[in-house]
Amino acid sequence: MTEPRSVVVTGAGSGIGAAVAATFAEAGDRVFLADLSEERLDQTVRSLGSELVQGRPVDVTDAAALHDFVDWVVARTGRVDVLVSNAGVFDGVADIQETGAELWNKIIGINLTGCFNAVKAVSEQMITQRSGRIITIGSIAASRAMPDGIAYCAAKAGIEGLTRRLAYDLGQYGITANVVAPGAIRTGIRATSEEILGDLVDANRGVGVNADLMNLLIPAGRPGLPEEIAATVFFLSGEGAAYISGDVVHVDGGWIAT
Ligand SMILES: NC(=O)c1ccc[n+]([C@@H]2O[C@H](COP(=O)([O-])OP(=O)(O)OC[C@H]3O[C@@H](n4cnc5c(N)ncnc54)[C@H](O)[C@@H]3O)[C@@H](O)[C@H]2O)c1
Repeated sequence: MTEPRSVVVTGAGSGIGAAVAATFAEAGDRVFLADLSEERLDQTVRSLGSELVQGRPVDVTDAAALHDFVDWVVARTGRVDVLVSNAGVFDGVADIQETGAELWNKIIGINLTGCFNAVKAVSEQMITQRSGRIITIGSIAASRAMPDGIAYCAAKAGIEGLTRRLAYDLGQYGITANVVAPGAIRTGIRATSEEILGDLVDANRGVGVNADLMNLLIPAGRPGLPEEIAATVFFLSGEGAAYISGDVVHVDGGWIAT
């Protein structure tokens, strides 16, 4: 039997982060959940019902709090084997005219600076260990302008640049860094299929909402599931992915191809 790994997941209170936590816990790893919302964290820890899972409220925009969180993890396990930097928020379809400094700073602050803070907090420990897997959660929004807001598109493109540079810098220490870029996934960010379809519509251009549009854009013809993202994250954390680094893996039902 292999040793349980020490896994940190940010934004793990719901959606993709919670599914990632469940996947690692089912594999017998020790999972440490960070989320802004104490209520969501408690719910997720309770629903997973495993002594391998522990959570603490953390705001990823607070670099010092993330360092404390990682110290807390290392005090329990002596190491951090995997970071899944997942915390993120959405800005609808706000374009340049609708996006002011406040919205821009919020979306960049949580999605991009929050990712930098998480990576910064674990990298020292991973370098000391001379091993580690960093998986950042990007988005198809890094490569496709529609249907997300301008700040979100910029933040997710930034995550790709950050992750590539991490792969370049940290490979010498046995650390890999990759992006998992989801398409439209059924989570709290876009709860219902109608909302997902609605997000695909640019109201200014009056594009209609219908299943044909979804089929046109997404060859799979359906939104994805959080578990489908978690499965790819888990693969990238494993031995079989030791030679994959600096890559962006789209889990989007083929949307990137259209
Ligand atoms: N759902 C999709 O269609 C989709 C598509 C592409 C990318 N993503 C990305 O996947 C990631 C997870 O999104 P999701 O769909 O599971 O959304 P979600 O809203 O279900 O989960 C996001 C979690 O992040 C937490 N969070 C928000 N701000 C935080 C902060 N400052 N500090 C710590 N935690 C914070 C929230 O409390 C929440 O639990 C995000 O990075 C999102 O951009 C989602």
